[in-house]
Amino acid sequence: MNARLTARDWLRERRKVITILQPGSDAPPNGDQLAPTSGHRVLRRRLTRVRRAPRKFRRPPLTLLSLSEAEPGSSRPPWLVDPEITHTPIWLSRLPSSFEGLKIVHLTDIHHSLFTPLEEVERVVHLANRLEPDIVALTGDYVTFSHAYIRPAARALGKLRARCGVYAVLGNHDFQVDPDQITQALRGHHIRVLRNAHHPLRVENKTLWLVGVDDLWWNSDDLSGALRAVPAREPKILLCHNPLGIWEASSHEIDLVLSGHTHGGQVRLPGIRSWYRSKLGERFVEGWNQLHKTQIYVSRGIGKVVVPIRVSCPAEIAVLRLRRARTPARQ
Ligand SMILES: [Fe+2]
Repeated sequence: MNARLTARDWLRERRKVITILQPGSDAPPNGDQLAPTSGHRVLRRRLTRVRRAPRKFRRPPLTLLSLSEAEPGSSRPPWLVDPEITHTPIWLSRLPSSFEGLKIVHLTDIHHSLFTPLEEVERVVHLANRLEPDIVALTGDYVTFSHAYIRPAARALGKLRARCGVYAVLGNHDFQVDPDQITQALRGHHIRVLRNAHHPLRVENKTLWLVGVDDLWWNSDDLSGALRAVPAREPKILLCHNPLGIWEASSHEIDLVLSGHTHGGQVRLPGIRSWYRSKLGERFVEGWNQLHKTQIYVSRGIGKVVVPIRVSCPAEIAVLRLRRARTPARQ
């Protein structure tokens, strides 16, 4: 009995303290005020009303907010290894000063499929957006084998953000699946697909031309057509899935080619050379290179084909910074 009374007293004292601490309360710290009378209930309701923020500033419950508005790819699944983010300056002698420092994020060979699940694509998009690109260049092979992957891949890539836009060309796997459906899906998400076409980027009356061609293996490329009405003297960047496009690009005075296709070899075992061979040797399997006055960057890309692994050849998000060169060659 005594113990129950003691507990009741303790509760009463605790309520007193709470009442004293309530902001704006001018009620005296008197135990009588705490009696559950209707007057006290009105006072408490009024105090509660004063403390609450106006309705427009109130936040939804935290759990709902975090579950419903979390950006896809913002957290990395434990089984996923992030791509390597590489940084390469590209020195161009014809680059107008107004484009100095332009940041291109180059993604290629996404290959959304069982081997490259959607979480991986969303993660890449998230990482690319964090780099705050001026341009995103996509150089083909968005899906492998199936139409079922087209819409999810396009939806994920549609979340890419770049100040001057997102530009794309198709790769050999896109032609194998359905080039028109992939084009339509990407365009539906505000990605500019350059199919033997060009797009001028203009800053302060100066122009940098983005040119894109269809895939070489499918004999669909038409660089001459893509360059129609593009002034020969102005700088041009060519998006071309297959790095062998540099052969023709160099004869059309293209300044820079961005390519993929090789996956950097994808599986590189000690003592065994890359399975990718080109008629120009292994020179254009990955990274920066040059043919005559035309430079090229070949990214290792994101996805996997044939086997669901990469060995000694991590996926890559390439960040290219355009710089104005005084001499034609960079290295
Ligand atoms: Fe590929």
